[in-house]
Amino acid sequence: MGRDVIVACDFSGAEATRAFLDRFSLCERKPFLKIGMELYYAEGPSIVREIKERGHRIFLDLKLHDIPNTVKKAMAVLSRLDVDVTNVHAAGTRAMMEAAVEGLTRPDGTRPKLIAVTMLTSTSQESMERDLLIKEPIDEVVMRYAETAKASGLDGIVCSPLEAGKVHARCGTEFLTVTPGVRFAGGDVGDQQRVTTPERAKELGSDYIVVGRPITAADDPVEAYLRCVGEFLG
Ligand code: C5P
Repeated sequence: MGRDVIVACDFSGAEATRAFLDRFSLCERKPFLKIGMELYYAEGPSIVREIKERGHRIFLDLKLHDIPNTVKKAMAVLSRLDVDVTNVHAAGTRAMMEAAVEGLTRPDGTRPKLIAVTMLTSTSQESMERDLLIKEPIDEVVMRYAETAKASGLDGIVCSPLEAGKVHARCGTEFLTVTPGVRFAGGDVGDQQRVTTPERAKELGSDYIVVGRPITAADDPVEAYLRCVGEFLG
């Protein structure tokens, strides 16, 4: 798939999404977009089809986590939306991830890329120990989840750019690292805890950076997007 910048379309509805995308109509590059729960639950599969028809590549970020049979059937439905990437929680365990791959695979053998969320970046060592009763160091938990995702046939994981190098060392350079938590130097950090610049994410070995507010909330989103692309791919 190569490396790229993925723009998180964290909008509450179709109108705001269209207004944002219309600004890119004259842009020399068509952004790869992430559609998350907010927009998908507001608009349903029609928003995915509409964005696909506009010619964008799509990462459908719905983070499935249920019993293997349910995830397999849900993935079979999602496979018909023809997105480029989708995901599950690695915490669903190997049986669930294998079922997800099976469900996502179309009758002709093709399927979107499937990646796993490891430990959410909002989970701390303390909350993991207290609420989930997992006592290992969180970095080690992330690596173990990555290895299980790989063994289950998945293509990569969502992780912090700071973990990308270690994930590649453990799971191979072909195993995709998709990394949020990116900010321009001197930019507003917002609610993200551990952030890196696009340039630093490139040095750390991220394959895809997911960037939301630094682009969606910029005065000139196209300029911010192209700056991000320049720093990450340049
Ligand atoms: O606006 P911002 O650049 O912080 O957006 C980051 C995007 O990546 C959001 O859609 C957020 O939900 C998502 N994300 C994240 N951290 C994770 C997983 C997903 O920030 N661990």
